[in-house]
Amino acid sequence: MSDKWRQKLHLEPPQGWLNDPNGLSYYNGCFHVYFQYAPDSPDGGGRKCWGHYQSPDMLRWEFTGTVLVPDIPEDRSGVYSGSAIEKDGLLHIFYTGNVKEDGDFDYILNGRGANVIHVTTSDGCAMSEKKVVLRNSDYPAHCSCHVRDPKVWRENGMYRMVLGARTRDDKGCILFYSSPDLESWSFAGEHSVPNMGYMWECPDCFVIGGQKYISISPQGLHHEPERNQNVYSSGYFAGSEFIEWDHGFDFYAPQTFETPDGRRILIGWMGIGDIDYTNPTADCGWQHCLTLPRSLTRLSDGMIAQNPVKEYESLRCGKISAADGSKKSVPLPFDLCAKTDGDFEITMDGVILRLGGGLFSIEFTDPAIGSGRDIRRARIGSCGDIRIIADMSSLEIYLDGGRYVMSTRYYPPAETITIGLHGINADLYTLRGMEVTIHGK
Ligand code: FRU
Repeated sequence: MSDKWRQKLHLEPPQGWLNDPNGLSYYNGCFHVYFQYAPDSPDGGGRKCWGHYQSPDMLRWEFTGTVLVPDIPEDRSGVYSGSAIEKDGLLHIFYTGNVKEDGDFDYILNGRGANVIHVTTSDGCAMSEKKVVLRNSDYPAHCSCHVRDPKVWRENGMYRMVLGARTRDDKGCILFYSSPDLESWSFAGEHSVPNMGYMWECPDCFVIGGQKYISISPQGLHHEPERNQNVYSSGYFAGSEFIEWDHGFDFYAPQTFETPDGRRILIGWMGIGDIDYTNPTADCGWQHCLTLPRSLTRLSDGMIAQNPVKEYESLRCGKISAADGSKKSVPLPFDLCAKTDGDFEITMDGVILRLGGGLFSIEFTDPAIGSGRDIRRARIGSCGDIRIIADMSSLEIYLDGGRYVMSTRYYPPAETITIGLHGINADLYTLRGMEVTIHGK
């Protein structure tokens, strides 16, 4: 094993385990990306903390270390997911303090504390004293102990918070709270949809193109051959329709934030809990990464297109034109761009990407390269273009202007791969990596 699968375009932990993106924000001239971090184990065991990256431009990143650790009774079993918002020159962070009491409990209806905890920082790294602003007794009586993942935003002169929850009769829902000052919070309603699973995690509410959207990561959806294929899902509501953010093997718990120039950006965890496929980097001491930051735009039918932020185009350093029927050797990482007008097939070592009869699929033909992944499908109809961002151990595939996305981890044996094109011509841009410096633990 070697470091050959260390990503060059995606944020990953220096060691240990990463899951959800947290506290995404632009504050004090920097982008801040916090994340669920288990520094002591690549399998997610041990302390669950927040790790922190910051960047002036989303291309040069500094890891500043573990900035929130479980160290008070109200977060003793984990500093769980949450969000950040600027007010009066400080960055205000809200997260879930998870508490598992000792004893014979089911940890669903009893034995678990879910505290919303508030801290502030003036530099993104050093945190103030922790204050509990909501605890189990503040949630509706019909909720189980699974209530978490506060996302806070400002709307009509008030602060609003949304929390994900599971009711005592196993239905996913979200809870709303509001506050004039980020300190005192009052219950402001609840929302759920029938037959949408037993738990909604990591909710988010935002506006794109004048339209309000709710995003959730529901657990317990019915799996179908072309929809909700993963153990857990995540998506947004366009009207009453639930639309998955990503149809690949590895995507969960996304969060959004707004840049100073008004772009709504989404970052997800390029991973999921409780999967039966694996990531061989765990044997080298780390596991999981985040997705690229994706810029969101509203399409005329209400769907949301996702595309890699334009900053990544500045990493292009060479161009290879590849014609239909050709085979090219290309070093990772690369950015493949192609217009399409009909069915096509793109082969890469151990994986086939195929559009046929309106169905797009990603299929691993070599089980080692997929590390247990087999096939994922998306019913996309016709498709005007495809863009593939291939990093050292992942593929992010953007279809039809970003209307559909598929993300997967991918473990090729070498750092150069062979691409075959059938029914499609493509431009392949080789990419420089991002600059990542590690300044903490
Ligand atoms: C989603 C999630 C969140 C929770 C966090 C714990 O992946 O389960 O609901 O806050 O991970 O790490």
